[in-house]
Amino acid sequence: MSALLVRHVGELVTNDPALGDGSPLGVLTDAAFVVEGGRVAWVGPAGEAPAADTVQDVGGRAVVPGFVDSHSHLVFAGDRSAEFAARMAGTPYAAGGIRTTVAATRAATDEQLTAGVARHVEEMRRQGTTTVEIKSGYGLTVRDEARSLAIARLFTEETTFLGAHVVPEEYAADPAGYVRLVTGPMLDAAAEHARWIDVFCETGAFDADQARTILEAGRAAGLPGRLHANQLGHGPGVQLACELELVAVDHCTYLDDHDVAALGDTGTIATLLPGVEFSTRSPYPDARRLLDAGVTVALATDCNPGSSYTSSMPLCVALAVREMRMTPAEALWAATRGGALALARRDVGLLAPGARAHFLVLDAPSYVHLAYRPGVPLVADVQSA
Ligand code: NIG
Ligand code: FE
Repeated sequence: MSALLVRHVGELVTNDPALGDGSPLGVLTDAAFVVEGGRVAWVGPAGEAPAADTVQDVGGRAVVPGFVDSHSHLVFAGDRSAEFAARMAGTPYAAGGIRTTVAATRAATDEQLTAGVARHVEEMRRQGTTTVEIKSGYGLTVRDEARSLAIARLFTEETTFLGAHVVPEEYAADPAGYVRLVTGPMLDAAAEHARWIDVFCETGAFDADQARTILEAGRAAGLPGRLHANQLGHGPGVQLACELELVAVDHCTYLDDHDVAALGDTGTIATLLPGVEFSTRSPYPDARRLLDAGVTVALATDCNPGSSYTSSMPLCVALAVREMRMTPAEALWAATRGGALALARRDVGLLAPGARAHFLVLDAPSYVHLAYRPGVPLVADVQSA
């Protein structure tokens, strides 16, 4: 097995406190690391680096773990730029816009959907995302949900069945019938292609009882749950996520003190999606309040054609710092290790011996530049052997 030595790393973020300065980011300056068989084999001071077959000199730049984007909806067709323009002119965002994308997605061929996912995954990768979760949820028939997940699986192991995204038009008069479809034949067809199950628990989508029923059916079929909750207003979703001890609950924009306390008590990760607040011109979630209460916070893009059509984790880091009162260190951790933990992954989101060697070389001396230089393409090299 040939070994690669990456040397002359001005600043190395390991996300392992034991390896670096003792902080959660585990920062080492003037560092090097060795990659063997796609895994990190050694990390340490440049002066102690072992010999290797090949050498990559990164010229004193910063190296960070690849981003882990734990929430995206990439299987879709159609365009909603007119809806965005209307929103910027004052029309409020509503969950019902999802149905526009459902119609376009149902009408698309497998090839068209696959090409769309490929384009967006590549766009993400250029911006440093090396692990991505992809949800279904724009098919909403047994066939269209199953094929959405089969297509997502071509690109990632982290696929999520979101048949409960919204009640489709043909079930508008029979939401209970739709829940039976989701928990019955649709779940049966989706399960083989999915690792997770998710529900949009919000006014205009699914209430807490429906969400509980769907998440319990998913769990019985071997799919652990995650949840979209408290996005458009305060609701019961965060409490439900904590009650069911889900690994993560996403959005968390409107929280009361009980929600914050429950997240702190249960360890359910709050995944914040600042691209949504940016793109819907809404108030941002208060990450500082969560962090100060001991809640684990992750950051993700929620890349989708309606509420957040960005594939950029660096943008999310910059927004989290500027708008959500996170420090640059907290935001980078949340976008890497936080995202990994939100997917129950211990092999990505860090650069410690044994971890997958997914790393980014930044055109910058420090990771702080990710927030300090918003909108600048700083990701110079992406490795994820
Ligand atoms: O995560 N919240 C629900 N689903 C997406 C929005 C989907 C859409 O508007 O098409 C979200 O924000
Ligand atoms: Fe989402």
